[in-house]
Amino acid sequence: MKPKIVVFTGAGISAESGIKTFRDSDGLWEEYHIMEVATPQGWEKNRELVLDFYNKRRKQVLETKPNKGHLALVKLEKKYDVHIITQNIDDLHERAGSKKVLHLHGEIFKSRSTTNPSLIYPIKGAELNLGDKCERGSQLRPHIVWFGEQVPEMEKAYDIAAQADIFMVIGTSMVVYPAAGLIDYVKPNIPKYLIDPSDVKIGGVSNLTVIKEKAGVGLPMLLELLMNS
Ligand code: APR
Repeated sequence: MKPKIVVFTGAGISAESGIKTFRDSDGLWEEYHIMEVATPQGWEKNRELVLDFYNKRRKQVLETKPNKGHLALVKLEKKYDVHIITQNIDDLHERAGSKKVLHLHGEIFKSRSTTNPSLIYPIKGAELNLGDKCERGSQLRPHIVWFGEQVPEMEKAYDIAAQADIFMVIGTSMVVYPAAGLIDYVKPNIPKYLIDPSDVKIGGVSNLTVIKEKAGVGLPMLLELLMNS
């Protein structure tokens, strides 16, 4: 039985692939109003604006590729049972080769019915548009968790985090809940690692090693340590 590593990632792990984070200077939210493009109210007010916002982000993801941080996490699978819990909606972890990826905030290459949320479809290519309908004839929406909506995968994420032998936090400002609360479900006495080039505050966490680096530098360093320990 391989030791279990649980990795909690945010926008920062995709930054070196060229995808903007949310709260860094010149971040994604600098150009858009969250309320207009990432809330149910925004969707009701202007569906076309929301669809355009995600079509633009989907096109950008199609032009990017996994970076050294994503690839280092795949190499860990040789020795560890690696579970990734990500806030990211891109597919870079999967394209890097990670086998176990749980998306808390949805997936940009999926759509779902606006009348029956269990009807989920792959989006082939870059666009989801007005008039694209589910099998029941209702408009499709991005399969994304918007602000103010439930995070359906949260219970499953808590269970996975509670089984971790090693826990990592990579590239997230830890300011959006319930996702950021995941760390409270991790066993206090196991080793935890935080990789981020800026100062991220994680209060009251024991056994924490902070690696103040970008993911593309910090993760290969940590890989070296964990593969030879
Ligand atoms: N490597 C590692 N971390 C990085 C890098 C990098 N190259 N570049 C930036 N970071 C760090 C930043 O210092 C910051 O701590 O990544 C973090 C990005 O934080 P946010 O922009 O807040 O993104 P995130 O934490 O993923 O946001 C959480 O909020 O907007 C919502 O639903 C959206 O999933 C998102 C959630």
